[in-house]
Amino acid sequence: MKKTIASGMRPTGKLHLGHYLGVIQNWVSLQDQYDCYFFAADWHALTTKFDKTETLAQDTLDVITDWLASGLDPARATLYVQSLVPQIAELNILLGMITPQNWVERDPTLKDLVKMHADISYGMLGYPVLMSSDIMAFNAHAVPVGSDQVAHIEITRDIARRFNNIYKTNFFIEPEPVLNDCALICGLDGQKMGKSFDNDIKISDTDEVTAKKVMSAITDPARVRRDDTGNPDQCQVAFKYWQIFGTPVQIEAAQSECRAGSRGCADCKRQLAAVINEKFAPVRERRRYFEQNQDEVKQIITDGSAKARAKAQETLTEVKKIIGIYR
Ligand code: TRP
Ligand code: SF4
Repeated sequence: MKKTIASGMRPTGKLHLGHYLGVIQNWVSLQDQYDCYFFAADWHALTTKFDKTETLAQDTLDVITDWLASGLDPARATLYVQSLVPQIAELNILLGMITPQNWVERDPTLKDLVKMHADISYGMLGYPVLMSSDIMAFNAHAVPVGSDQVAHIEITRDIARRFNNIYKTNFFIEPEPVLNDCALICGLDGQKMGKSFDNDIKISDTDEVTAKKVMSAITDPARVRRDDTGNPDQCQVAFKYWQIFGTPVQIEAAQSECRAGSRGCADCKRQLAAVINEKFAPVRERRRYFEQNQDEVKQIITDGSAKARAKAQETLTEVKKIIGIYR
C-alpha cells in the first residue's frame, strides 16, 4: 500500500517560478511514490480575499492549468478543488470542537497574516483547523509544502494527537511535512518573489517576456562598464538564478568571466534567459495545449473532485463512528 500525501495551494492566479521550484516540482516528483491528493485551496483564498472574488473561479482554473503544464498527471495524482469536497468542511466543524482557541491564536503564520490584514475574520482564525481538515480528510502521512507552511502542519499533528487521545483511538496519522532541498528563488529585485511585488517570472510568461524580465534583474551594483571586473557574490539576483538554472559548467563560466571582466551583464543575462526559457519550453508547450483545451482541464477537476469526495467520505464515516454521532 502506498502512503498518502495531501497538499494544496491558494489559487492566487498564474504561478511563478517560486511556486514551481519551491512546491510544484516536488509534487511532480512524488506522484509515483505516493497516493497523491493535490487541491486548489479556494476556501483558504477567501480568508483574505472574501471581498475580492471576481477572479477567484478563473484563478482556480488557472492554477490547475499550471499544475498540468508542470507535469502533474491526473492518471497518477488526484487533482481537485477544495470547495468541491464538502466533507472537508464537515471535518472542519468536528476538529474545530476539539481545538483549543489558544492553539490557533499561537500559530505564527497566522500572526503574520494578522499583521497584514488588521481585521481578521472568524474564518481566518480557523485557518490552521481548515488546513488540518484538508490533510486529515485523507488521513495523509505526509504534506509536501514550502517551509512557510510548516508551523501549520505542527498544529495538524497536535490536533490529530488530541483527537486520538480524546476518543481513545489511533485512527488519525500525525502527518509529517516534506520539504524539498531546492534553494529559495528571490524576485527580480532581490526581495521575496511574489505576484503582488511585480518581481516575478510566471510559468506562463512567453520567452520574450521572460527575457525582458531577466534583463531587468539586478546585478553587481559596482559594475558600470562592460569590462569592469565583477563579483558574482555581489550579484544578488542574476548570479543566484545561474546557480539555480545553470549547469556546473555554465555557472563556472559566468563566475570566472564576470571576475575577469570579460562578460558584460547584458550578455550574461541574455544567456541566462535562454537557459530559463529552454528549461520551461516543455512546460509552456503543455500549458498552451491545456489553455486551448480548457474543457479537458474542467473534466479533470470534475473527476478528481469526485474521487476526493469518495475518499474523504470514508474518513468522515469512520470519524463520526469514533466520535459517536447519530448515524
Ligand atoms: N496554506 C497553504 C498556502 O497558503 C495552502 C493550503 C491549504 C495547504 N490547505 C493545505 C497546504 C493543506 C498543505 C496542506 O499555500
Ligand atoms: Fe552578475 Fe553576470 Fe553581471 Fe557578473 S556578469 S555581475 S554574474 S550578471
